Amino acid sequence: MKESTPAAIHLTDYAPPQWRIEHVDLCFQLDPVDTRVRSRLQLRRAVSQEAPLVLQGEELKLINLTVDGEPVAPGNLQQDEGSLTLHELPAQCTLEMETAISPEANTALSGLYVSGGNFCTQCEAEGFRRITWFLDRPDVMTLFTVRLEADKDRFPVLLSNGNLADAGDLPEGRHYAVWHDPFPKPSYLFALVAGDLVCQQDRFTTCSGREVDLRIYVQRHNLDKCDHAMRSLKKSMRWDEDTYGREYDLDIYMIVAVDDFNMGAMENKGLNVFNSKYVLARPDTATDDDFVAIESVIAHEYFHNWSGNRVTCRDWFQLSLKEGLTVFRDQEFTADQSLRAVKRIGDVQRLRSLQFPEDAGPMAHPVRPQSYIEINNFYTMTVYEKGAEVVRMIQTLVGREGFRRGLDLYFERHDGQAVTTDDFVKAMEDANARDLRRFRRWYDQAGTPVLDVAGEYDETNQSYRLTVRQSCPPSQGQSEKLPFHIPLTLALLDSQGREIPLRLEGESQATPGERVIELTAPDHVLVFRDVPEAPVPSLLRGFSAPVKLKFPYTSEELAFLMGHDTDDFNRWEAGQQFAVQMLQGQIAHIQAGREPTLDPLFQEAFARVLDNDTLDPALVAEALTLPGETYLAEQMEVVDVDAIHQARQFTRRALGQALAARFRAVYDALQDTQGMDAAAMGRRRLRNLCLAYLCAAEDANAQALAEAQYQSADNMTDAMGALRALMDCPGEIQERSLAHFEARWREEPLVLDKWFGLQATASAPGALDRIRRLMQHPGFSIRNPNRVRAVLGAFAMANPVHFHAADGSGYELITDQVLELDALNPQIAARLVTSLSRWKRFDEQRQGLMRACLERIVAHPGLSRDVYEIASRSLG
Ligand code: PHE
Ligand code: ZN
Repeated sequence: MKESTPAAIHLTDYAPPQWRIEHVDLCFQLDPVDTRVRSRLQLRRAVSQEAPLVLQGEELKLINLTVDGEPVAPGNLQQDEGSLTLHELPAQCTLEMETAISPEANTALSGLYVSGGNFCTQCEAEGFRRITWFLDRPDVMTLFTVRLEADKDRFPVLLSNGNLADAGDLPEGRHYAVWHDPFPKPSYLFALVAGDLVCQQDRFTTCSGREVDLRIYVQRHNLDKCDHAMRSLKKSMRWDEDTYGREYDLDIYMIVAVDDFNMGAMENKGLNVFNSKYVLARPDTATDDDFVAIESVIAHEYFHNWSGNRVTCRDWFQLSLKEGLTVFRDQEFTADQSLRAVKRIGDVQRLRSLQFPEDAGPMAHPVRPQSYIEINNFYTMTVYEKGAEVVRMIQTLVGREGFRRGLDLYFERHDGQAVTTDDFVKAMEDANARDLRRFRRWYDQAGTPVLDVAGEYDETNQSYRLTVRQSCPPSQGQSEKLPFHIPLTLALLDSQGREIPLRLEGESQATPGERVIELTAPDHVLVFRDVPEAPVPSLLRGFSAPVKLKFPYTSEELAFLMGHDTDDFNRWEAGQQFAVQMLQGQIAHIQAGREPTLDPLFQEAFARVLDNDTLDPALVAEALTLPGETYLAEQMEVVDVDAIHQARQFTRRALGQALAARFRAVYDALQDTQGMDAAAMGRRRLRNLCLAYLCAAEDANAQALAEAQYQSADNMTDAMGALRALMDCPGEIQERSLAHFEARWREEPLVLDKWFGLQATASAPGALDRIRRLMQHPGFSIRNPNRVRAVLGAFAMANPVHFHAADGSGYELITDQVLELDALNPQIAARLVTSLSRWKRFDEQRQGLMRACLERIVAHPGLSRDVYEIASRSLG
């Protein structure tokens, strides 16, 4: 808790560690209220001159301490808030300590805590210091031997990293296990788990023929929900061998599912700890989206074994080194499991609706930040998702094979090291003889670049001229931006939708298909020769760079691209742009007090996609989904949440009415929705989308159809599809279905979260009462991050109309909860504060209300660093 203003940590202050910990022996006497941790550190000074040893520690009670078996003279030992300093140590010595901690009192879920009666740990980023005093920084890599002792009845399973070395019984009903991890690792990758768990077991034979024991540990009642996670793990292991030549390196790989977890999952060496949301699934309890998310998180954590664990980060400013790269790897994995374009569309939607706003607001920071107050606040969309885009651009620039060469070199050079994003880019340069100096600016400059593009056809000379100008708005602490190195993938389409061969001025030969143009200057002029007719350009194909592209397309051109672009992603994108243009027009109408109208050209283009049965149903569903409210908000000068919502609802309803017969026909034609493969998921997605449009039209038949689907559904996707559709139709059927769902699933917290989420995001009046009621539900607990996200997170982030209620009641509610939560779990409280940070985007009245809430937060006594940083930066 902060006393005065918390201090910032700067990248430029980085200094290598003065001490190394070569080996650590840890012994845990586990007890929920009084756990004893004995540690023996083998220390070696890493610099030639005398240097004090400064260890980090938080909320620890030091019981005793010796150096080489002797007590330390009081003058040589100094304990401060957060640190323990030892002076005049020999250059090599053994430090032994005993500390006491209380896992049960740990509501922050960082360090050693209790979840569901079991012990578990979370050490990234700086949780290890809440277990024992240590050099808790990623560039100190240590060999760990861990002994766990606990009551055998209550905690029959004792796990830590690496391989099991020994186990046995102790007096008084206790037992022990000893684990040794043969790979040196930073403290943030340490983990232990102890509890009453059962496991699903399987085996994997690696490419070199080694056998790996695979185990997924869960509470007994969840053992029937592990099949999908296990399948996903085996797929990931094979894929990383096939795609990147990466083999697993221990004899055992364990995953433990816990109900109380701040994030998605954690890649601790050989012992991943997961939020149970990303493990547990059965077709009747989890939706298709859950299945896909589980597969990708399992893959993500597994891939970290190389990109994160074997090669780790020098300091936390380099977080994207492991996260951006690993997100890129899991995106590629998922793309290979189903339809690449569908995956890309989903990722770009996420980036544009969540990362672009972050990059345009007060929390904007480069992929490699330059300073932070609390590192936990920097596990952001920018570090993860934009970081992955930066890696993807490198692949686009050097090609797939070149990228593989670069990655091989990176792992070969840096195996066992803690390195920087610069080292990563250097490996890519060296393996490909490329100069990426300018490209590195993507790591250091915040903000989303804008590409202003214009095209001009010259009929007499049969040439087409594209002018491209890049710019990037200023962000906090960065008023001037230097030009970025941007891969712009493009093609020119003729009136039949065929790709025109490309010959740039000065080239002797044309090349078929698309091209990657490298932009490095503020302005570029591209002149294409031998262009027989005025083309329609298909720009930024596959979203080749995380930028905002502006090109003055007409509605006709967008309709043409929607139907003809040979790039699946850009076909979708054309539809989105068309929809945005139309919705913006409607918003203007609504603001002027006029009735919005549906553009017939849009309706026609939309209907053609619906009728196109040569397209994959999943792609059709994406194309027929209108841009989200937050994405639309981003396009407005002053956000008008009500007009946005009305326009979008109007369009959904108008389309539902105008095309009711066709939606119904497609719905009926998609009867074969059995199975958990990607094709079946695609059919379910499209079918549920049709149902949603039918219900949006407020047709009584549609409600009956939705209720019938809800009642007969044998899988959660169709049950939720029906319920979600019914959320547009307040009334008896909706109430009955929601009540039924609650009665059926109240004992399954992860399923109940879906019920919480539907109601927390409902646009019907009375939202505040609804939220208060949900918080009174016996299944809700403010101590559980998943519940907080399902109710408060969903309300603040995904219910714009009510969160931004003009009287400020939504802001007040969230502010009250932030302050209550901050005393328990600062990380989760801080995440919730970000919902207030973009106050400057709203009208004056709302600005004042939001600012007042932020001021109330900052003034709160005893505020955490986490919340302080977000709230104060938002005000600043
Ligand atoms: N390193 C984890 C991941 O992305 C995320 C995480 C961060 C989990 C901090 C817990 C705490 O895979
Ligand atoms: Zn990660």
